[in-house]
Amino acid sequence: MSDDILVEEIPEAVTPTPSGVPPRPGKGAARHRLEEILRVDHAGELAAVHIYRAQSMVFSATPERALSNDLKRMEFEEQVHLDRFNALMREHDVRPTVMTPVWRLAAMGLGVGTALLGPKAAHACTEAVESVIEKHYAEQIEDLKDREPDLAAELMKFRDDEIGHKDHAVSAGAHQAPAYPLLSAVVQAGCRLAIKISEKI
Ligand SMILES: [Fe+2]
Ligand SMILES: [Fe+2]
Repeated sequence: MSDDILVEEIPEAVTPTPSGVPPRPGKGAARHRLEEILRVDHAGELAAVHIYRAQSMVFSATPERALSNDLKRMEFEEQVHLDRFNALMREHDVRPTVMTPVWRLAAMGLGVGTALLGPKAAHACTEAVESVIEKHYAEQIEDLKDREPDLAAELMKFRDDEIGHKDHAVSAGAHQAPAYPLLSAVVQAGCRLAIKISEKI
């Protein structure tokens, strides 16, 4: 890479390294990708916690107590993932997405809305969300496995948890939800859009 391009890629606001030398392009790119990964995964886990919390709350006021407890268990599992990303972001000095308050509200809205449509719609929401997250983790694991093997191993564990949530939702009747194809497509499209936005800002 020429010096001209290197200078153009480093904004004035970038803090120089302690040695006063700007980061090498390869190193800078890896750091940038790590920031994207931690930011988007943190956003995804935050949303997951709020979706399950909202669904659990709605069903706790109905005879579906067992389902409410099940969703509470999944909320706690997502909270473990979220706590880990909070710690990793502090460790690597990465800020959360500016969209955090919006995602929190959107996730609660999605949770309440799908729960009000009934247990099967709630499961369809879970399947849609978890299948997008699972694929996204798989891409990140592939990306990180040589460069950051420890982080890749953690993401593998989280991905397994998401697959467990998805399989549970399918076995509980996700595919029998009213307007399942539309519901699933809309939720998945929303998740993919949120991923793209959260990686960037
Ligand atoms: Fe999760
Ligand atoms: Fe999950």
